[in-house]
Amino acid sequence: MRVRVPAKVNLHLGVGGVRPDGYHELNTVFQAVDLVDEVIAYPARHLEISISGPHADEVPADSRNLAWRAASLLAERAQVAPHVRLEIAKAIPVAGGMAGGSADAAATLVACAELWQTSSSRPELAQLAAELGSDVAFCLLGGTALGTGRGEILAPVLSTGTFWWVLALADYGLSTPAVYAEFDRLNQSSSKGIPQDAAGSPDALFDALRAGDTRGLAQTLNNDLQPAAVSLAPALRRTLAAGGELGALAGIVSGSGPTCAFLTSSQRSATRLAAALTAEDVCRSTRVASGPASGARIVR
Ligand code: C5P
Repeated sequence: MRVRVPAKVNLHLGVGGVRPDGYHELNTVFQAVDLVDEVIAYPARHLEISISGPHADEVPADSRNLAWRAASLLAERAQVAPHVRLEIAKAIPVAGGMAGGSADAAATLVACAELWQTSSSRPELAQLAAELGSDVAFCLLGGTALGTGRGEILAPVLSTGTFWWVLALADYGLSTPAVYAEFDRLNQSSSKGIPQDAAGSPDALFDALRAGDTRGLAQTLNNDLQPAAVSLAPALRRTLAAGGELGALAGIVSGSGPTCAFLTSSQRSATRLAAALTAEDVCRSTRVASGPASGARIVR
């Protein structure tokens, strides 16, 4: 069973206060982009995982891996033995702020449900996804969606046309909890204090998405975690500045970083910008990707 699953960028990431469960209240707009991981599930005598792709050796192949936990959770709920061999081919950057681990968990749910014939409905899988992590449910759904709660409560957002991105991948990762902790530290030491509610998504963003208006979208991109990511990885300042100088319509840190996402006006502009960024030596590598992309789906 072969499943492809997209990465995400946050077009808007409004972060609020810390909830009693330790998560931050979010108001975010996700867009799935066609930078995809592939998860292949084979019948096996027990649960095992192998991972390939850049930085695969840094990804744990045991119960610390969210894909492992996804297979275990589905098996438990469906009352089947968690026997599967999962081969994960990674193209989504590891610890890159693009939901790579969550994507693999979403793909695992889809692949194992089919392999084990659990007859789970999509809403049932979405419920399991929400239990597993904040971004897993979106990776299952794909497209463009508003995420609230800790990011797992989703509502699809109308979006027309195709948006072209250049993703600048770093040669290091950032830990999501560390970036949220830095966000809290920066807020505590600022005079504003910690925001209680995650700032609402601007209407202008929804207008731009509905109209397929790339320039309008460029003006509304926002990531509240960006100052925290840049504080932990100051080299990102140079990457973001280079993207602007080389013609991106806008650039933001993707989620908790360190991947930077640059919006461009066309596939051609994206290809040109990707080459120029590579030549500037401000990132490990670049990828051109378009969005919105489909959520986790079986490849026949
Ligand atoms: O849910 P997920 O496992 O993706 O979250 C990883 C970490 O990111 C959490 O343990 C938490 O530290 C932080 N986080 C948060 N608030 C959110 C989402 C994630 O503080 N809404």
